[in-house]
Amino acid sequence: MNLKIFNNSSEIAKFSAEFIIKNLKNNQKLKNKFVLGLATGSSPIETYQNLIKDFKKNQTNWNSTIFFNLDEYIGLKPTDSQSYSFFMRKHLFDDLKVDSKNTFIPKGVGNYEEYANKYDSLIKSKGGIDLLILGLGVNGHIGFNEPPSDFNSTTHIVELTPKTIQSNSKFFKNGQSVPKKAVSMGIKSIMNAKKIILIAYGESKADAINKLINGKIDKNYPCSILQQHNDVTIVIDKVAGKLLKSIKS
Ligand code: GLP
Repeated sequence: MNLKIFNNSSEIAKFSAEFIIKNLKNNQKLKNKFVLGLATGSSPIETYQNLIKDFKKNQTNWNSTIFFNLDEYIGLKPTDSQSYSFFMRKHLFDDLKVDSKNTFIPKGVGNYEEYANKYDSLIKSKGGIDLLILGLGVNGHIGFNEPPSDFNSTTHIVELTPKTIQSNSKFFKNGQSVPKKAVSMGIKSIMNAKKIILIAYGESKADAINKLINGKIDKNYPCSILQQHNDVTIVIDKVAGKLLKSIKS
């Protein structure tokens, strides 16, 4: 695992955006295509803003990129302002002028179960994820893979834990209830990505970061499985890294 510790979220975002752009360009050179996996939540927002700034300044070419999102709430339509589909358009796709035919997000309504079942083959048919951006839940979840997680899971329906519902309620206005279920890429779908960058900052992530890096691999800390991936970069701030005493190599 590659660990990068920064002073604050803007340093994290600068590094992460440069990392993503470097991978985009390398893949374009190699095969004229890039498949990028995307996370939602607050952690990647500043990174997405930097990608947009770069696009406006340097006209970086995102046309040949295919985007696959990690997850979506069940019960929210893509037009709902709390849906991850809406989030992606607002925080990235619209400003990068991405063609919607290149964006894939698990469905939260309609035939969502059927779509979840074919999501992994869809990823495979596009060549697999070259780089996957991950956030981290305070309970160690990645995507919406709540503890205890099945390490063999592909995209599936998940029940959100009270801890996740409470922590994600920050995005919902008073009176709006947080959905209790979601569709998420599974742990196996995540581990199939060729390269992973995980972004986390703030004190609330310190325990999960410590378990991710130094803990034993345990389904009760889904993120710990990343120790078995051969190309993961963890990008955190000092506060999120405060429990790290030693680094497992
Ligand atoms: C949600 C998302 C995760 C994300 C997590 C962390 O649960 N499904 O993909 O990693 O939130 O969110 P935040 O970055 O807001 O702490």
